[in-house]
Amino acid sequence: MPIALENVSYTYAPGTPWEHVALSEVTVRIEDGDFLGIVGPTGSGKSTLVQHMNGLLFPSDGRVVVDGDEVGSDRKALRDLRRKVGMVFQYPEHQLFEETVWADIAFGPKNLDLDEEEIARRVRWASESVGLPEDILERSPFELSGGQMRRVAIAGVLAMQGSVLILDEPTSGLDPRGRASLVEQLRALNQAGMTMVMVSHSMEDMALLVNRIVVLSEGRVALAGTKREVFTQLEALETLSLDVPRVTQVMLRLRGEGVPVPLDVMTVNEGIDALAAALRGEKDHASQ
Ligand SMILES: Nc1ncnc2c1ncn2[C@@H]1O[C@H](COP(=O)(O)OP(=O)(O)O)[C@@H](O)[C@H]1O
Ligand SMILES: [Mg+2]
Repeated sequence: MPIALENVSYTYAPGTPWEHVALSEVTVRIEDGDFLGIVGPTGSGKSTLVQHMNGLLFPSDGRVVVDGDEVGSDRKALRDLRRKVGMVFQYPEHQLFEETVWADIAFGPKNLDLDEEEIARRVRWASESVGLPEDILERSPFELSGGQMRRVAIAGVLAMQGSVLILDEPTSGLDPRGRASLVEQLRALNQAGMTMVMVSHSMEDMALLVNRIVVLSEGRVALAGTKREVFTQLEALETLSLDVPRVTQVMLRLRGEGVPVPLDVMTVNEGIDALAAALRGEKDHASQ
């Protein structure tokens, strides 16, 4: 179910004193199986952009095409779209409201008129996918830690079993352990075939997860490409006050000192391998 935003512009409160152009001529395409990252400074239009992907906002200009059909105002088509493209808002735990975790995760599927058995299967699958232990299901979501509440909220969207999952800043405010395990779970969902879109300011999360990145600045696409293409544009990223991951910075410095490491190293383990290979290469050279 490819999603294409074609020259999308969006203005909040047009014709009022609060008029604000949040997106200008943004073109983005998401293919099946992609893990697309969206980064950019606060206020650059990231949340506005993703809300166009499941028909929560409609372009002021340009169009959004999902699976070949332009997103419009037809109510049935919109309901189908929102079922297939799940949205996890920023701080989704603020929207939990049921008495038990089970009921919160089951809320969406219940509205799909599924039988009890199918609902139960989905609740179990969704809670396992985000690493919630089974004994939590009967508890109140309000007794849980912030990280667990976040997982409950994500599980509620997963239980709809759409084919695309959009996450707006899913790791913000989590401690490093909570963050690392959520990152692992998101990666596993994508590897199992789910198309993912993630908004984040964390370039470290981007490095671990996404295959393609769109960088927004003041509502425009400032950079776009594979993760490797984008991370090697250091100067452009610096202008936008965005950092590349530390290990990528280390590789760039080493390269500057003449050590022949590749520039597109994203993780610490890749960095260790690249450095070991470069050092081995030097030794082989010296012994020849
Ligand atoms: N409901 C709204 N009404 C008016 N302006 C808004 C509204 N929501 C967001 N904006 C403005 O639109 C711009 C983009 O916002 P947003 O998409 O939330 O950015 P980001 O998610 O990158 O921080 C910001 O300048 C923000 O102040
Ligand atoms: Mg935002």
